[in-house]
Amino acid sequence: MACLAATLGLVIFSGIMDLSAANKDPCDLYALVGQNLTLPFVFEGLGVHELRWTHNTKIIFYGQQGRVSHGKAEDISKTGSLSLKNLQFSSAGIYQADVVNPNRTLAKTWNGSLCVLDKVAKPQLTYICVKTSDVILNCNVANPQGLTFSWTLFMDDKTLISETKQTLSISLAQQKVVRSFTCSVANKVSKEKSDTVRPTCESPPPPPLFCLKSQTVLAVLAGGAGLILLLLVIIITLCCRYRRIRTQMRRRDQEGLSLNKLEPKISPVYETMHQTEDAPTVSQTSLPKDCCENVTQPEAQTENKPAQLSADAEGQRPSPVPKPRTKGPKTPNI
Ligand SMILES: *[C@@H]1O[C@H](CO)[C@@H](O)[C@H](O)[C@H]1NC(C)=O
Ligand SMILES: *[C@@H]1O[C@H](CO)[C@@H](O)[C@H](O)[C@H]1NC(C)=O
Ligand SMILES: *[C@@H]1O[C@H](CO)[C@@H](O)[C@H](O)[C@H]1NC(C)=O
Repeated sequence: MACLAATLGLVIFSGIMDLSAANKDPCDLYALVGQNLTLPFVFEGLGVHELRWTHNTKIIFYGQQGRVSHGKAEDISKTGSLSLKNLQFSSAGIYQADVVNPNRTLAKTWNGSLCVLDKVAKPQLTYICVKTSDVILNCNVANPQGLTFSWTLFMDDKTLISETKQTLSISLAQQKVVRSFTCSVANKVSKEKSDTVRPTCESPPPPPLFCLKSQTVLAVLAGGAGLILLLLVIIITLCCRYRRIRTQMRRRDQEGLSLNKLEPKISPVYETMHQTEDAPTVSQTSLPKDCCENVTQPEAQTENKPAQLSADAEGQRPSPVPKPRTKGPKTPNI
């Protein structure tokens, strides 16, 4: 049981160790292709000691007191450091130095892993305008793995460096403040800066087609609304006028009705008196009874209807005075 627990613990421990190893920087030293590099090993008083350099366990230098069996003496400094010339990708790996005492005991050891990297290419800074709200800048490089990005934003005079992602998203409002951009891409041994880019997203709106469409849609909507409003106003005005006319007509009708009830003969006469000024013939034809009576009146003036005649005569005389109602009770004899 204890054995199982110990095994389990060991497994877990080794797992943790693996994790920490994965997080650890894989290289102690970084160098650019074609570069000359001196490995940082120092042993004072080399003298009679043996010096051995290995690259990935292969001996590349072995010497003692000027006797060199492997490699070149000029590659080794007085303190035992190794000079590497014109580095290639094949030069990468683990280098180890061992200094051995004359009594065959180890005096000093050193090791270090070297990574050889290519120079980063100059990035191409591009941008896209996203629906009038954002500008997305992209720092384009061929192989972005393991590279670090940085941005320089030129705001009037100031320079601001904050972002470290490959893409940078800024709002149009920010874009008005920030004049121009450069992005830089770097690996452990080199850094390159893009050309300065000044995005122009607002002057020609990002998607001009969409904007045009929305504008036309807006215009059409506004026009339609205006038309509907105009129609409504017209309809309301017409309704009000019609209503006023109707109420006026109704009132007149009611007045006429009441007059007719009171004096069915006189009121038409009164109306004809008003209308005779404009169209006397129509008024006469429209009221044939009155006409007939008027016509017959001179003939039957003598004895047939003296009361009626007097009433008519009386009705005709005050007709310019627009008060037919007051006249009403005066003629109850019909
Ligand atoms: C590397 O060293 C060699 C010889 O010492 C020299 O010719 C060359 O210019 C050096 N290269 C660099 C990049 O310094
Ligand atoms: C070997 O030599 C070194 C110095 O030269 C000394 O410090 C060390 O004690 C010696 N070891 C043995 C086992 O003799
Ligand atoms: C490098 O040296 C360290 C101690 O400094 C040692 O733990 C490690 O195993 C060595 N690596 C190699 C590959 O020899």
